[in-house]
Amino acid sequence: MTSQVVYLNGEYLPLNEAKVSVLDRGFIFGDGVYEVIPVYGNKALRFEHHMQRLNDSLNAVRIANPLSNTQWQDIIDKLISESADKIKDQSIYLHITRGVAQRDHRFPDVSEPTVFVMSNLLHAVDPDLLKSGIAAVTLDDIRWQYCNIKAIALLPNILLRQQAVDQGAAEAILIRDGNMTEGAASNVFIVNNGVIKTPPKDKKLLPGITRDLVVEIAQSHNMPIAETSISEEEFLKADEIWLTSSTKEILPVTRINGQQVGNGKPGAVWQDMYQKYQDYKETLRT
Ligand code: PDD
Repeated sequence: MTSQVVYLNGEYLPLNEAKVSVLDRGFIFGDGVYEVIPVYGNKALRFEHHMQRLNDSLNAVRIANPLSNTQWQDIIDKLISESADKIKDQSIYLHITRGVAQRDHRFPDVSEPTVFVMSNLLHAVDPDLLKSGIAAVTLDDIRWQYCNIKAIALLPNILLRQQAVDQGAAEAILIRDGNMTEGAASNVFIVNNGVIKTPPKDKKLLPGITRDLVVEIAQSHNMPIAETSISEEEFLKADEIWLTSSTKEILPVTRINGQQVGNGKPGAVWQDMYQKYQDYKETLRT
């Protein structure tokens, strides 16, 4: 662990030597944004899409992007090459805060953003989970009105996830104004009467890169798909429920609020999509 090399503000350092000031606004206020990028066979999945979302998040919180896409790519390449497990799949965590300043809510007149990047092994999802599916619960979406920003301030998401875990479930699926939005750290799809559905992208949810890829895969294979709002009622009657994220890929949910989803097993449409997603990943390794 300690031999892991990370990037901090222009330097490559062992993880245990990477230090940030206690006055960093990320530490004090959660004032920053982040990205998680999966890497397969040394190739980042949808790098440009992640960079676009990073720029959108930075613009939304009024922090100038401190690096160009080429510089981000160079950092990622270097961290992968420094990793002892470079042949394995990795997940890149990239984090920018407004930097160090005396504690004051208003933006500082001058501050250098803090930039931190690390690469961790991306463990394959447990095959048993893919066979059994996972349990989820629905909870009230207590978050703010800019859920499209990938903000490091994740206290509501953490409280929601923990509430799900306390109930023996792996994820909280959130309901706002009677509609399903997303998971505490994932996007959500359902299948009803053979049609794949996911909520449209707006400020109520994070525009997931995995979500967009799943939508694209469905469209390119002529699988019926709709980006449409999903009421709590429709959600709870779904034949299939899936979660998507960069680290979990596409996970079937087979129990919701203690009730069986469909026949209680991962569904046929999920199986088909999961395979197509694996095929897409394999094209990155070549
Ligand atoms: N989270 N919605 C939320 C609230 C998320 O935190 C995430 C991912 C997603 C899925 O987005 P993507 O497909 O781009 O990973 C949706 C990451 C993995 C995390 O916080 O670790």
